Amino acid sequence: MKKVIVISTSLRNGSNSDMLADRFATGAKAAGHDVEKISLAGKNIQFCKGCLACQQLGRCVINDDVNDIMARVLEADVVAWATPIYYYEMSGQMKTLIDRMNAMYPQDYHFRDIYLLTTAAEDEQHVPQRAEQGLQGWIDCYPKCHLAGHLFCGGVGAPHDIDGNSKLQAAYDLGHNL
Ligand SMILES: Cc1cc2nc3c(=O)[nH]c(=O)nc-3n(C[C@H](O)[C@H](O)[C@H](O)COP(=O)(O)O)c2cc1C
Repeated sequence: MKKVIVISTSLRNGSNSDMLADRFATGAKAAGHDVEKISLAGKNIQFCKGCLACQQLGRCVINDDVNDIMARVLEADVVAWATPIYYYEMSGQMKTLIDRMNAMYPQDYHFRDIYLLTTAAEDEQHVPQRAEQGLQGWIDCYPKCHLAGHLFCGGVGAPHDIDGNSKLQAAYDLGHNL
């Protein structure tokens, strides 16, 4: 049994990437894993100030929701990120959380397998590539982990566009086969 954290970064109602995240989580739970899903909707997450105090303290000096999320990420074996593609990149809120979890950098961590779930209005292969590269930059800083899978669902612009899409089953299968 693996400890799995799914971080859903879209803030809108009827989010397509959140539905991918849900299906991934459901598949992982069905396979017997210990799964927690965190949505950034409603969370208080400020920008990184770059003070680097976290490198000594082991936590961020900003008292918002990040230290709690980071503690759970540190304990997880699997981290799945779900994000809408914004300007051919990951969402700003996902990048902000990555930056804010900089206190993890000098610490030991459990996570080994990282997954990326992306949605976009366009449906071409290149659309999510920069988001994957951006996440790879984070992964490169934690050499015991690797990108284990990236599922992209294109052609979904409006909320709920993903309903009935075969990529939902693919997300379930990805979670189920961790
Ligand atoms: C600020 C912004 C930028 C976007 N940039 C792109 C883009 O570069 N390429 C694309 O195909 N879709 C783009 N979209 C559309 C979203 O990726 C698409 O609606 C996606 O399904 C949103 O995911 P969500 O429902 O999980 O929020 C953008 C949407 C927003 C709000």
